[in-house]
Formats: sequence, C-alpha cells, structure tokens
Amino acid sequence: MSRFAGKGVVVTGAAQGLGLGMVEAFLAEGAGVVAFDKQERVAELASERCAAFVGDQSRRDDCRRAVELCVERFGHVDVMCAHAGIAEPLPLLEMTEEHWRRHMAVNVDGIMFLTVEAARAMVAAGRPGAIVCTSSINAWFVEETHAVYNVTKAAVWTFVRSAAMDLARHGIRVNGIAPGVADTPIAELVVHNPELAPQYLKTIPLGRFGQPRDIANAVLFLASEDASYITGQTLVLDGGQTLGIPGDLEAAAEATGWEGS
Ligand SMILES: NC(=O)c1ccc[n+]([C@@H]2O[C@H](COP(=O)([O-])OP(=O)(O)OC[C@H]3O[C@@H](n4cnc5c(N)ncnc54)[C@H](O)[C@@H]3O)[C@@H](O)[C@H]2O)c1
Repeated sequence: MSRFAGKGVVVTGAAQGLGLGMVEAFLAEGAGVVAFDKQERVAELASERCAAFVGDQSRRDDCRRAVELCVERFGHVDVMCAHAGIAEPLPLLEMTEEHWRRHMAVNVDGIMFLTVEAARAMVAAGRPGAIVCTSSINAWFVEETHAVYNVTKAAVWTFVRSAAMDLARHGIRVNGIAPGVADTPIAELVVHNPELAPQYLKTIPLGRFGQPRDIANAVLFLASEDASYITGQTLVLDGGQTLGIPGDLEAAAEATGWEGS
C-alpha cells in the first residue's frame, strides 16, 4: 500500500520507540517525513524522503520550524503526529513544581503547539489534513507514582475533542491514540522486568505487550482517507487491558470444587 505517497508528515518523538515505528511505517507507504526528536541521534534517520529535526516540542519555535521544514522539503504538511511524551515516576508526596511543570510543558503544551502550527500551515495552504495526538490509557486507568503523567494524558484526550471541534470547519480531522503497555524504552521497567512482566501480562486479555507496529498501524489508519469521517476520537490500543478483569473462572471453580452458591 502507498496511502501516503506525495504527502508531508511530521512525527515527534521519532528517534526511538513508537515514534520511530511511525516514521518507518509512513516511509514504507510513500510519505515524506520530518523526524523530530530532542535527541541528536535522530539525524541517523535522514534520507531522501526523511528530514531529521533536532528540537524540543515544549518550545513553540521548534514546533513551527519543524512544520516549516516539512513544507520546504515536501511542499506541504498533510499529517502531524504530535507524539513525544515523558513519564518519570514520582510519588505525589514528593511532587515538585519543576517535575509537574516539565511534564505539562512537553506532554500538553507541546501537543497544542504542534497541532496549532500544523493546522495553520494546512489552512494557509488550503490543504486540510489529519492530526493524531498521543494520549494513553493512563488518562483514566491511572498508575501509582505517575500523577502528572496521568493528568497530562487526560488533558490530551480532551484537547483532541476540542481541537477536532475547532478545526472541523477547515476540514482538518484531529484524533488520538491511547496505547496500553507497549514494548519501548519508556515501558522497559515493566516489559523487560522478569518479575513484573508476567504479572502484567495476566491483565492483558490478548496476552502480549503492544509492539511499535501495532501502534503505527492505528496511527496510519487515523491519518488516512480510510478514516475520513472520524474526528475527535481517541482509539484505545491496549490488547483489551482496560476492558475488565480477565480470568478463567470456570477452570478455577473446577480446580477448587466450587459448585456455586
Ligand atoms: N510505550 C508505552 O507503553 C506507552 C503507552 C502509552 C502512551 N505512550 C506514549 O507514547 C509516546 C512515546 O512513547 P514511547 O514508548 O515511544 O517512548 P520513548 O521514551 O521510547 O520515546 C520517546 C521519544 O520522545 C523523545 N522526546 C521526549 N521529549 C521530547 C521533547 N520535548 N521534544 C522532542 N522529543 C522528545 C525522546 O527523545 C524519545 O526519542 C509518549 O507520548 C508516551 O506517553 C507510550
């Protein structure tokens, strides 16, 4: 498939993990991609159809420059994946202003800057496109010691609905993704922990952690014409983790000889 041939795409958090998976998937489907990350090693991705941009999405100028770079290199910006985020654990009793504000700046301010800068470029060019923002199941399925992260991801959820409402008149669609636990450096503590990983897997009905390709597949769908009538939605990508409590009660009853009440 080449749903994105001739399209200009910006992906933030592109140097590793889920963002890198998105860059690879968009390139495989013909797009020109601006790979935006704060890590200099994002430069290794540069190629004929991939422009690397080192910047910080909590800085509005950097967000604007990344969009301008997309227009310079590929003629226009058609898709914005406002994706990068940080998640450093800290018990609430130890919360500092610096920790709180830093997470808000990257995870909320940055998503807003990227959305607004991309939307302005789309409106100026008369070329409505699609924006996909990264939230998380942490928006409501909260994790201990992650108060500010949980709050930022809930903010992204409502921002997606708000931006979709404001930008619909320009033909711009805005959607979100809410991954569960995916196998990337941000989730290494869980996914590659020999004690925690098996416990966690019991809570995921599909029995595995998400892979970057699982997440990229959903992002490309939302960014494509296949999703032309979808806006303001956040798609949960968690292998069923937030559906409820999995467990084979029939087998448990048999094993214990329980016959019902
Ligand atoms: N992996 C998961 O289990 C999971 C689950 C739910 C949501 N998410 C979300 O997915 C996004 C990224 O997750 P990941 O798993 O790929 O994480 P990751 O930590 O592996 O990668 C994040 C990337 O973002 C970059 N980055 C961080 N701050 C930045 C900034 N200010 N400006 C530009 N780049 C910046 C980092 O350098 C890194 O390359 C985050 O928004 C995260 O909240 C991840």
